[in-house]
Amino acid sequence: MKDFKRYTITSALPYANGPVHIGHLAGVYIPSDIYARYLRGKGKDVLFVGGSDEHGVPITIKAKNEGVTPQDIVDRYHGIIKKSFEALGISFDVYSRTTSETHHKTAGNFFKKLYEEGKLIEKSTEQYYDEEAQQFLADRYIIGTCPHCNNEEAYGDQCESCGTSLSPMDLKNPKSTLSGNLPIRKKTKHWYLPLDQHEDFLKQWILEENKDWKPNVYGQCKSWLDSGLHPRAVSRDLSWGVPVPIDGAEGKVLYVWFDAPIGYISNTIEWAEKEGKDWEPYWKDKDTKLVHFIGKDNIVFHCIIFPAMLRAHGEYILPDNVPGNEFLNLENDKISTSRNWAVWLHEYLVDFPEKQDVLRYVLAANMPEAKDNDFTWKDFQARNNNELVAILGNFVNRSAVLTQKYYNGTVPVLGELSDYDKNAIAELASIKGKVEKSLETFRFREALKEAMSLARLGNKYLADAEPWKLAKTDAARVETILNIALQITANLTIVFEPFMPFTTAKLRKILNVSAYNWEQLGGMDLIPSGHTIATPFLIFDKIEDAEIEAQMNKLMESKKLNATANAKSNPAKEEITFDDFVKMDIRTGTILEAEKVPKTKKLLKLLVDTGVDKRTVVSGIAESYKPEDIIGKKVSILINLAPRKIKGIESQGMILMAENESGELGFVACEKDFGSGSEVR
Ligand code: 2FM
Ligand code: ZN
Repeated sequence: MKDFKRYTITSALPYANGPVHIGHLAGVYIPSDIYARYLRGKGKDVLFVGGSDEHGVPITIKAKNEGVTPQDIVDRYHGIIKKSFEALGISFDVYSRTTSETHHKTAGNFFKKLYEEGKLIEKSTEQYYDEEAQQFLADRYIIGTCPHCNNEEAYGDQCESCGTSLSPMDLKNPKSTLSGNLPIRKKTKHWYLPLDQHEDFLKQWILEENKDWKPNVYGQCKSWLDSGLHPRAVSRDLSWGVPVPIDGAEGKVLYVWFDAPIGYISNTIEWAEKEGKDWEPYWKDKDTKLVHFIGKDNIVFHCIIFPAMLRAHGEYILPDNVPGNEFLNLENDKISTSRNWAVWLHEYLVDFPEKQDVLRYVLAANMPEAKDNDFTWKDFQARNNNELVAILGNFVNRSAVLTQKYYNGTVPVLGELSDYDKNAIAELASIKGKVEKSLETFRFREALKEAMSLARLGNKYLADAEPWKLAKTDAARVETILNIALQITANLTIVFEPFMPFTTAKLRKILNVSAYNWEQLGGMDLIPSGHTIATPFLIFDKIEDAEIEAQMNKLMESKKLNATANAKSNPAKEEITFDDFVKMDIRTGTILEAEKVPKTKKLLKLLVDTGVDKRTVVSGIAESYKPEDIIGKKVSILINLAPRKIKGIESQGMILMAENESGELGFVACEKDFGSGSEVR
């Protein structure tokens, strides 16, 4: 890895409208913390920046629903989030917030500079305005009928039913959620970042010069860049946010995605003021490596929009890498705040006191680096019991207990080495390079595996060498074996430091040593003979079935509550007659072809054999099924539904789907294989 003079590491600022859950941790905060700790261990100049993202419309909606102010909401969650990060050992150098004075000033000045230098476009457009509430309506404050699928509750920015991105003007029968009234159209002025003017630069910079970015990140950037960039509004008509700092912009604030990433800079400034340092090199010196840790939903903002802002500003460096992760699921279902389908960090810390590292370990081991991954409580238990307790804990305990037993805690002398010893020592020496390579290329799971292989090596070494059998016959040999075992243990305190800092502190306590630096990893001289270790204690304990059951029960409670809420919000429809029913011509069918409808998240274009004919149907199932997995699937299809155009494609019929309370879809099909064309009645 090229050596930089300093490292600025940012982790996405979580919205302060809810606590942090394991998905956030596995995606962003665990990898960034591992990376920051690793670099600090190497003696690098590291600044690890965190903070809460406290603006945006969802915060105002939550405040309105609770009858409190947006400030109340962000004060509450900023506190919870900050405290829980600290308790988990996320080693931010600064954790501030975007409602801070410094941030308002920094973000305001940033905008002002772009504005004054003509780097923004000013445009007036018509937007919806609620006359009763006397305000312009953010996209999420407008609902109406989706022009693509006729869902009557589509939001101004997106239809959750067919997944199409919308603009409020696309909606039929728009309604303000503030007053319930029909909003009027009114002219309003906003400022736009002309992304199109940065397109050539971004193409060259990302697609040519940053081919080493993770494939998932690079791929998303490429698809954005291939479809062409357009100016993006960077202001909003809203009262919550950083005010637009120019005359005549009363009632307008910076768009949350404009101010939030500037929060990284503001927080750096706050840190520097407190520490008496100069903040500028961390953002402006070419010899600084800037790395943004984010989840996949943040890729466009950190790889395209923020770099375009930084470039337009002109004084800043651009990120060297943006290691974006995919999503973590929970027990095979998407994590969802609204359905309370999550493991909340602040609750975990109460339910599993002193077990921060177990969570850190399990989340690092399951990090969704290349694709979405799943967290299950069974896996959590198994990794704790079979890996942390049985391998790492067991080895360390045996080394320390045997040293106490045979030598009263004094580290014995390293004598003559057997071939077996030499192999173990060579393996120990090889770990450092492997872990470094993995960490520096953001392959944290692989790095953790390598670290764990050192514990496995130690465990196997002791098990094979069996010093307890030699105590009476070959005292010199036992001394050598235990010296090697203790050197391996000392090395474990180094290699696990980025991943499990609470555990390495315990290990150092047992060994009675102070912290090492990363460069010492692999050494056989970490503990001198004659040094006295402390009385050992267990560093991990078994997690019992009952604890796992309690967590599963908690999740099942959420499932039940959701099912009840779903039944309530989704009561039986009004009665119809038999004649109404028989009007529907439903047949068994078979999917012959399937492909994604471009630029939509939910739509697949299907070719279906209905037994009567072969026809095209557009179906909103792309979040539940991949096209390649459903070729040949037996389905039920309503064939006499009037054709509708969806995204320019004529859809002739409708596939029958069942939907569970988390929005997952499943085909409704005949349990016997009747082939295509049988009537369903
Ligand atoms: O997606 C999110 O949770 C955003 N609050 C992340 C912001 S990252 C940065 F730009 F501040
Ligand atoms: Zn729709």
